Amino acid sequence: MNKQFDVLVIGAGPGGYIAAIRAAQLGFSVACCEFSAYDDPAGEPRLGGTCLNAGCIPLKALVASSEAFEKAIHNLPDHGITTTGISIDVTKMQKRKEAIVTKMTAGVQFLFRKNKITLLKGRGSFAGKTDTGYRMIISGKEGDEEVLAQKVIIATGSKARHIPNVKVDNVTICDNEGALKFTEAPKKLGVIGAGVIGLEVGSVWRRLGAEVTILEVMPSFLGAADESVSREASKLFLKQGLHIKLGVRIGQAKLTKDGVSIAYTDDQGSEHTLECDKLIVSVGRIPNTEKLNLEAVGIQTDERGFIPVNDHCATAAPGVYAIGDVVRGPMLAHKAEDEGVMVAELLAGQKPHIDYNSMPWVIYTTPEIAWVGKTEQQLRSEGRDYKTGQFPFAANGRALGLGDSEGFIKMLADGKTDEILGVHIIGASASDLIAEAALAMEFHASSEDVARTCHPHPSLSEVMREAALAIEKRALNM
Ligand code: FAD
Ligand code: NAI
Repeated sequence: MNKQFDVLVIGAGPGGYIAAIRAAQLGFSVACCEFSAYDDPAGEPRLGGTCLNAGCIPLKALVASSEAFEKAIHNLPDHGITTTGISIDVTKMQKRKEAIVTKMTAGVQFLFRKNKITLLKGRGSFAGKTDTGYRMIISGKEGDEEVLAQKVIIATGSKARHIPNVKVDNVTICDNEGALKFTEAPKKLGVIGAGVIGLEVGSVWRRLGAEVTILEVMPSFLGAADESVSREASKLFLKQGLHIKLGVRIGQAKLTKDGVSIAYTDDQGSEHTLECDKLIVSVGRIPNTEKLNLEAVGIQTDERGFIPVNDHCATAAPGVYAIGDVVRGPMLAHKAEDEGVMVAELLAGQKPHIDYNSMPWVIYTTPEIAWVGKTEQQLRSEGRDYKTGQFPFAANGRALGLGDSEGFIKMLADGKTDEILGVHIIGASASDLIAEAALAMEFHASSEDVARTCHPHPSLSEVMREAALAIEKRALNM
């Protein structure tokens, strides 16, 4: 007799494991299958997906270590602290990162046990339909097992996109997986793509001493961010020594005796070769849909390989949902999680809803960049009547005390109703500060609401209130 479940989740990344937990909380019998691209040394699948194993969590551990190193050299002397002989042991830094990853992935195993979720170790795929649900094959180390599920949630995530003529070996030419495992800081690092990974990973190795050159195909920098933030970021990153070349065309990458050489054409059409010890390819990600046998249940991927879904993540097959990186929308862990919760609650007959416009974005550079809602250029092109308020961290006592006073917060509000339409931050702790703006937007707050809310003093959050006050030209400390 085949095992039967109310809900089978395919993939245990942040989308899948959160969907499984929420479905279990709501009383369903739940299984989650994971073949794991990220086996641990004992050969067990490591849960947590890209986020925990080769994305958000390990990268932010390296961001923190490299920021601590850079601060020790450049900022501590300003505090009167003498620092001599500071060095970085990259092997130890990597061990710290691995320990965090191991703790977090083991945490997901614990949560599965706590919520009585059955972990099926193996690759999930569709075998066909039954009267009440779906026949699923789980292909594990011991062979194939067929299970039955009334509802299926596909949460198979994404993998790095590669480009022709640049063969990734994850030793010298790396995607996100190899780029997080360097055992020493390269002297010269090349990065293809000035997107989120390029800037975050490039900044890690720059802080640890690498000369970093980022080659970007687009003629403009950080096009998704508000233009004033992109301008400020470009200025600050240049000052930090990141070389960013825009409008390039990438040619052939060749392994050399000392590393790799990469040919490219600049925005004027001149040809160049960049010699470096390591090269990172970070040009976006593609959804994981191969071997799911989606055709067996009548699902077809779109031209870019994503599984088409409606606003509630329902696919073309009744009772089959898809969430996270494998469907439209931003490839962000919190987006995958929210979709997981939404689908589980829908299955339980609830009426959840996601407002994608209130979903924050963060880039973990120094300083951090974060935003929610619309950019000023979007509002302009929509012909919207809007007001702006901006306040610099340099006029905030807490920022000065911390020695982190670069950047600003900019708020955009409707010209008539004063509803907040977007908030854009470049500055210290932007990743935490943006949560207040996301909450305000979720509740359709006005800039006046934020301006009238008491904020703690001294704190970086006062910059948010001052930006709100600045909308009506009544910032108090400037
Ligand atoms: P994934 O995390 O990719 O998980 C999918 C899981 O499904 C994997 O474990 C995979 O092994 C498994 N799987 C695939 N196919 C099958 C199958 N057929 N059967 C069983 N299992 C299967 N996002 C943020 O919000 N903040 C960040 O700071 C951030 N940093 C990032 C840094 C890097 C370097 C990278 C690469 C990404 C980062 N992201 C970040 C993006 C984030 O990691 C993804 O958006 C998120 O992991 C997507 O979650 P998911 O559950 O959809 O997929
Ligand atoms: P990305 O989409 O952020 O950036 C890719 C960059 O590469 C773009 O600027 C693009 O124009 C450029 N590019 C594309 N093809 C190119 C080519 N042939 N030559 C040169 N440049 C080229 O993708 P990235 O950085 O790979 O990250 C993937 C995803 O992972 C992100 O979209 C994001 O969703 C997620 N992520 C999120 C983070 C966060 O939330 N802090 C951190 C890291 C990743």
